[in-house]
Amino acid sequence: MHRHECLENLRQAGRLVLPSLLLCDFGHLADEISRVEQAGVEALHLDVMDGHFVPNLSYGLTLVEAIRKMTKLPLDVHLMITNPASYLDRYYEAGADMITFHVEATDQPRDLLSRIRELGAGAGLALNPDTPLKTIDPCLELCDLVLVMSVMPGFGGQRFETVALEKLTNLRQRLGPATILSVDGGVNEHNIKQCAAAGADWFVAGSAIFKHQDYAQRVSMLKEMVG
Ligand code: DX5
Ligand code: ZN
Repeated sequence: MHRHECLENLRQAGRLVLPSLLLCDFGHLADEISRVEQAGVEALHLDVMDGHFVPNLSYGLTLVEAIRKMTKLPLDVHLMITNPASYLDRYYEAGADMITFHVEATDQPRDLLSRIRELGAGAGLALNPDTPLKTIDPCLELCDLVLVMSVMPGFGGQRFETVALEKLTNLRQRLGPATILSVDGGVNEHNIKQCAAAGADWFVAGSAIFKHQDYAQRVSMLKEMVG
Protein backbone atom coordinates (compact mmCIF):
# COMPACT_ATOMS: atom_id res chain seq x y z
CA MET A 1 0.00 0.00 0.00
CA HIS A 2 1.36 3.42 -0.92
CA ARG A 3 2.26 5.45 2.13
CA HIS A 4 -0.14 8.25 1.24
CA GLU A 5 -2.95 5.71 1.34
CA CYS A 6 -1.58 4.35 4.58
CA LEU A 7 -1.62 7.83 6.09
CA GLU A 8 -5.18 8.38 4.89
CA ASN A 9 -6.24 5.07 6.43
CA LEU A 10 -4.57 6.03 9.70
CA ARG A 11 -6.40 9.34 9.72
CA GLN A 12 -9.69 7.55 9.18
CA ALA A 13 -8.88 5.03 11.90
CA GLY A 14 -9.65 7.58 14.63
CA ARG A 15 -8.15 7.06 18.10
CA LEU A 16 -5.24 4.60 18.19
CA VAL A 17 -3.07 3.10 20.92
CA LEU A 18 0.49 2.69 19.63
CA PRO A 19 2.95 0.45 21.45
CA SER A 20 6.31 2.15 21.76
CA LEU A 21 9.19 -0.17 20.87
CA LEU A 22 11.66 0.85 23.51
CA LEU A 23 10.72 -1.23 26.54
CA CYS A 24 9.83 -4.40 24.67
CA ASP A 25 12.01 -7.52 24.83
CA PHE A 26 14.50 -6.90 22.00
CA GLY A 27 15.82 -10.42 22.43
CA HIS A 28 12.49 -11.65 21.05
CA LEU A 29 11.54 -8.69 18.90
CA ALA A 30 9.66 -10.63 16.22
CA ASP A 31 7.54 -12.34 18.91
CA GLU A 32 6.93 -9.04 20.68
CA ILE A 33 5.71 -7.48 17.43
CA SER A 34 3.42 -10.37 16.63
CA ARG A 35 2.05 -10.29 20.19
CA VAL A 36 1.03 -6.64 19.88
CA GLU A 37 -0.28 -7.30 16.35
CA GLN A 38 -2.49 -10.04 17.77
CA ALA A 39 -3.48 -7.60 20.51
CA GLY A 40 -5.03 -5.51 17.73
CA VAL A 41 -2.76 -2.46 17.48
CA GLU A 42 -2.94 -0.55 14.18
CA ALA A 43 0.58 0.98 14.12
CA LEU A 44 3.94 0.79 15.91
CA HIS A 45 5.82 3.70 17.50
CA LEU A 46 9.58 3.36 17.04
CA ASP A 47 11.77 5.35 19.43
CA VAL A 48 15.02 6.24 17.67
CA MET A 49 17.53 7.82 20.06
CA ASP A 50 21.08 8.94 19.19
CA GLY A 51 22.61 9.55 22.64
CA HIS A 52 23.10 13.25 21.73
CA PHE A 53 19.68 14.85 21.47
CA VAL A 54 18.64 12.60 24.37
CA PRO A 55 20.90 10.98 26.99
CA ASN A 56 20.10 7.49 25.72
CA LEU A 57 21.02 5.46 22.67
CA SER A 58 18.33 3.07 21.44
CA TYR A 59 18.51 2.00 17.79
CA GLY A 60 18.66 3.39 14.27
CA LEU A 61 18.23 2.61 10.60
CA THR A 62 19.28 -1.04 10.77
CA LEU A 63 16.59 -1.93 13.26
CA VAL A 64 13.92 0.10 11.50
CA GLU A 65 14.72 -1.80 8.28
CA ALA A 66 14.51 -5.09 10.18
CA ILE A 67 11.19 -4.16 11.79
CA ARG A 68 9.87 -3.13 8.37
CA LYS A 69 10.45 -6.72 7.21
CA MET A 70 8.73 -8.18 10.30
CA THR A 71 5.37 -6.41 10.05
CA LYS A 72 2.94 -4.78 7.67
CA LEU A 73 1.78 -2.37 10.37
CA PRO A 74 2.44 1.33 9.71
CA LEU A 75 5.66 2.53 11.38
CA ASP A 76 5.42 5.78 13.32
CA VAL A 77 9.11 6.69 13.70
CA HIS A 78 9.97 9.14 16.48
CA LEU A 79 13.39 10.65 15.81
CA MET A 80 15.01 11.83 19.03
CA ILE A 81 18.19 12.78 17.22
CA THR A 82 20.31 15.84 16.47
CA ASN A 83 20.48 17.01 12.86
CA PRO A 84 17.38 15.11 11.72
CA ALA A 85 17.63 16.77 8.27
CA SER A 86 20.46 14.41 7.36
CA TYR A 87 18.41 11.31 8.07
CA LEU A 88 14.89 11.92 6.76
CA ASP A 89 15.46 10.27 3.38
CA ARG A 90 17.15 7.27 4.94
CA TYR A 91 14.36 6.67 7.47
CA TYR A 92 11.86 6.91 4.64
CA GLU A 93 13.83 4.36 2.65
CA ALA A 94 14.07 2.18 5.77
CA GLY A 95 10.27 2.00 5.73
CA ALA A 96 8.91 4.76 7.97
CA ASP A 97 5.30 5.73 7.24
CA MET A 98 5.25 8.65 9.67
CA ILE A 99 8.48 10.53 10.46
CA THR A 100 8.47 12.78 13.51
CA PHE A 101 11.43 14.94 14.53
CA HIS A 102 11.85 17.38 17.43
CA VAL A 103 11.39 21.10 16.92
CA GLU A 104 14.24 21.56 19.46
CA ALA A 105 16.62 19.71 17.10
CA THR A 106 16.49 22.06 14.09
CA ASP A 107 16.09 25.71 13.13
CA GLN A 108 14.35 24.83 9.84
CA PRO A 109 11.36 22.75 10.99
CA ARG A 110 9.21 23.90 8.04
CA ASP A 111 11.79 22.71 5.51
CA LEU A 112 12.03 19.33 7.19
CA LEU A 113 8.25 18.89 7.32
CA SER A 114 8.04 19.72 3.60
CA ARG A 115 10.85 17.29 2.81
CA ILE A 116 9.10 14.45 4.67
CA ARG A 117 5.90 15.11 2.71
CA GLU A 118 7.84 15.27 -0.56
CA LEU A 119 9.25 11.83 0.25
CA GLY A 120 5.71 10.50 0.72
CA ALA A 121 5.62 9.91 4.46
CA GLY A 122 3.49 11.66 7.09
CA ALA A 123 5.27 14.68 8.57
CA GLY A 124 5.33 14.84 12.36
CA LEU A 125 6.68 17.47 14.73
CA ALA A 126 7.42 16.72 18.40
CA LEU A 127 7.82 19.15 21.28
CA ASN A 128 9.15 18.56 24.77
CA PRO A 129 7.23 19.38 27.97
CA ASP A 130 9.35 22.51 28.53
CA THR A 131 8.98 23.80 24.95
CA PRO A 132 6.23 26.41 24.61
CA LEU A 133 3.54 25.86 21.99
CA LYS A 134 4.37 29.13 20.23
CA THR A 135 7.61 27.47 19.05
CA ILE A 136 5.65 25.27 16.65
CA ASP A 137 2.94 27.74 15.62
CA PRO A 138 4.66 28.61 12.30
CA CYS A 139 4.80 24.91 11.42
CA LEU A 140 1.30 23.66 12.19
CA GLU A 141 0.01 24.05 8.63
CA LEU A 142 2.71 21.63 7.42
CA CYS A 143 2.11 18.95 10.09
CA ASP A 144 0.32 15.68 9.46
CA LEU A 145 0.97 14.93 13.13
CA VAL A 146 1.97 16.85 16.24
CA LEU A 147 3.61 14.76 18.99
CA VAL A 148 3.07 16.30 22.43
CA MET A 149 5.68 14.85 24.80
CA SER A 150 4.41 14.19 28.31
CA VAL A 151 7.90 13.24 29.52
CA MET A 152 11.35 14.57 28.76
CA PRO A 153 12.41 12.23 25.92
CA GLY A 154 15.04 9.56 26.40
CA PHE A 155 13.53 6.88 28.58
CA GLY A 156 10.38 4.84 29.03
CA GLY A 157 8.75 4.38 32.42
CA GLN A 158 8.75 8.05 33.44
CA ARG A 159 5.92 9.94 35.14
CA PHE A 160 3.30 11.65 32.95
CA GLU A 161 3.62 15.46 33.05
CA THR A 162 0.22 17.15 33.05
CA VAL A 163 1.49 20.17 31.11
CA ALA A 164 0.81 17.95 28.08
CA LEU A 165 -2.95 18.16 28.73
CA GLU A 166 -3.03 21.94 28.35
CA LYS A 167 -1.06 21.68 25.11
CA LEU A 168 -3.37 18.98 23.75
CA THR A 169 -6.46 21.08 24.51
CA ASN A 170 -4.97 24.19 22.94
CA LEU A 171 -3.76 22.37 19.83
CA ARG A 172 -7.01 20.49 19.31
CA GLN A 173 -8.87 23.79 19.18
CA ARG A 174 -6.50 25.12 16.53
CA LEU A 175 -5.72 22.06 14.41
CA GLY A 176 -8.02 20.78 11.70
CA PRO A 177 -9.26 17.19 11.92
CA ALA A 178 -6.72 16.11 9.30
CA THR A 179 -3.80 16.72 11.69
CA ILE A 180 -3.21 13.80 14.06
CA LEU A 181 -2.57 14.83 17.66
CA SER A 182 -0.39 12.30 19.49
CA VAL A 183 0.72 12.11 23.15
CA ASP A 184 3.81 10.24 24.24
CA GLY A 185 5.37 9.43 27.59
CA GLY A 186 3.94 7.99 30.80
CA VAL A 187 0.56 7.37 29.19
CA ASN A 188 -1.42 4.74 31.08
CA GLU A 189 -4.83 3.81 32.48
CA HIS A 190 -4.65 6.63 35.04
CA ASN A 191 -4.33 9.48 32.52
CA ILE A 192 -5.37 8.21 29.08
CA LYS A 193 -8.98 9.34 29.47
CA GLN A 194 -7.80 12.87 30.28
CA CYS A 195 -5.59 12.80 27.18
CA ALA A 196 -8.57 11.73 25.06
CA ALA A 197 -10.79 14.41 26.61
CA ALA A 198 -8.07 16.97 25.85
CA GLY A 199 -8.23 15.97 22.18
CA ALA A 200 -5.50 13.41 21.54
CA ASP A 201 -6.00 10.99 18.64
CA TRP A 202 -2.97 8.74 19.21
CA PHE A 203 -1.75 7.41 22.54
CA VAL A 204 1.80 6.08 22.66
CA ALA A 205 2.25 3.47 25.38
CA GLY A 206 5.48 1.76 26.41
CA SER A 207 5.39 0.57 30.02
CA ALA A 208 1.59 0.56 30.09
CA ILE A 209 1.84 -2.40 27.70
CA PHE A 210 5.31 -3.96 27.89
CA LYS A 211 5.66 -3.92 31.66
CA HIS A 212 2.68 -6.27 31.90
CA GLN A 213 2.18 -9.94 31.14
CA ASP A 214 -0.93 -9.86 28.97
CA TYR A 215 -0.40 -7.38 26.11
CA ALA A 216 -3.83 -8.08 24.60
CA GLN A 217 -5.56 -7.29 27.86
CA ARG A 218 -3.59 -4.07 28.27
CA VAL A 219 -4.17 -2.90 24.70
CA SER A 220 -7.91 -3.60 24.80
CA MET A 221 -8.22 -1.88 28.19
CA LEU A 222 -6.46 1.25 26.89
CA LYS A 223 -8.43 1.21 23.62
CA GLU A 224 -11.68 0.85 25.51
CA MET A 225 -10.79 3.86 27.67
CA VAL A 226 -10.36 6.12 24.65
CA GLY A 227 -13.44 4.84 22.84
C1 DX5 B 1 10.40 8.59 25.44
C2 DX5 B 1 9.71 7.94 24.25
C3 DX5 B 1 8.37 7.36 24.61
C4 DX5 B 1 8.48 6.32 25.73
C5 DX5 B 1 7.14 5.69 26.00
O1 DX5 B 1 11.50 9.33 25.01
O2 DX5 B 1 9.49 8.87 23.22
O3 DX5 B 1 7.79 6.78 23.44
O4 DX5 B 1 9.38 5.34 25.40
O5 DX5 B 1 7.33 4.80 27.08
P1 DX5 B 1 6.41 5.00 28.39
O6 DX5 B 1 5.00 4.84 27.88
O7 DX5 B 1 6.84 3.89 29.30
O8 DX5 B 1 6.69 6.36 28.90
ZN1 ZN C 1 8.32 8.17 21.46
